Amino acid sequence: MEFHAADPIVLTNAEVVAADRVFPGWIAVESGRIVEIGEGGGPKGAIDCQGDYLLPGLVELHTDHLEAHFMPRPRVFWHAGSAVMAYDAQIAAAGITTVFDSFRLGVDEHEDWRSGAGEQVATLVEAIERARAADLLRADHQTHLRCEVPSPNVVEALEDFLARHPARLVSLMDHTPGQRQFRDLEKYFIYYQGKTGQSEHELADVVRERQRVGRTRAQAHRPQVVALAHAHGLTLASHDDTTLDDVALASREGVRIAEFPTTHEAAAASRDAGMATVMGAPNVVRGGSHSGNASARDLAEAGLLDILSSDYVPAALLMAAFHLADAPSIGGLAGAVRLVTKNPAEAAGLVDRGEIVVGRRADLVRVRAHHGEPVARAVWREGVRVA
Ligand SMILES: [Fe+2]
Repeated sequence: MEFHAADPIVLTNAEVVAADRVFPGWIAVESGRIVEIGEGGGPKGAIDCQGDYLLPGLVELHTDHLEAHFMPRPRVFWHAGSAVMAYDAQIAAAGITTVFDSFRLGVDEHEDWRSGAGEQVATLVEAIERARAADLLRADHQTHLRCEVPSPNVVEALEDFLARHPARLVSLMDHTPGQRQFRDLEKYFIYYQGKTGQSEHELADVVRERQRVGRTRAQAHRPQVVALAHAHGLTLASHDDTTLDDVALASREGVRIAEFPTTHEAAAASRDAGMATVMGAPNVVRGGSHSGNASARDLAEAGLLDILSSDYVPAALLMAAFHLADAPSIGGLAGAVRLVTKNPAEAAGLVDRGEIVVGRRADLVRVRAHHGEPVARAVWREGVRVA
């Protein structure tokens, strides 16, 4: 498959999902861009979509799914180049044409096995860069750096990364127990006991130590991470905002995206402060948050949700959009699809994609609903079939 040679194509007999409505029609593509859109039957010789939906390619802002391919078992690392190819294929097959590969920066002294993957960020980024240079990638890969601010080396790790590689998005994370994602300490115990196999007694020591050092370090590191992001012109996201104080802080810092607000209150305040809100697509599909926080569907129905992220299951993005299409006030399928296309593209400053409009990148997904679940049957990136 050659991913760079884009012959003109016309896709017809499709249900075209535009930003504000769905209509039967056709789309013409040339030199990687949408050049014409029509209603009704298309020109002769066009590719027949058999009544399937045509969506803009999905835009994913936050996925760490590459980790699952690179470290398929705890502490067992797979070949980086091979992991990137498998991950990229899975992303494209899920209808995602723009993906923000999310890398955690900052070691965690208390999560030994996971820190191993942290040290391998450079290996993975270099593998992606090599694959891109050789035109082997199906999706357009961007970089999202997830900065754990209480980590001892987070500032150094971010400086080092930005000196070597481009990035577009930086998120400010703080998983110190007793706040944000883990305001409920019991949930923290369940989550980390499952992940680390530590006893409750051992974890209680970890919690005390993390709370002791976390606050001081977070206060010192957070402004430095913010300053670095602004100096490099990167978009800032705040992670797991819970209280009005969390949102006020993010707002003062120039944060544009509220990633996984854990309460209704924080989501509403983020909106008022002009931020776009992101919730997990698995949360929609599973019907709630795995750590007991706000429900994505509730926020969507309250009109407080802008963006969905596949988080840890790439296929969740397309599924969640179709599941939410019936939510009151979402604006039908067109409105639900905006959560995974136009809205994330705009929030990340990618103005050349995310919508079926003449002049935009021809990133397109042909989707058929099968027993109520969407299946991506064909995917084009800049007019080239990539899945
Ligand atoms: Fe989190």
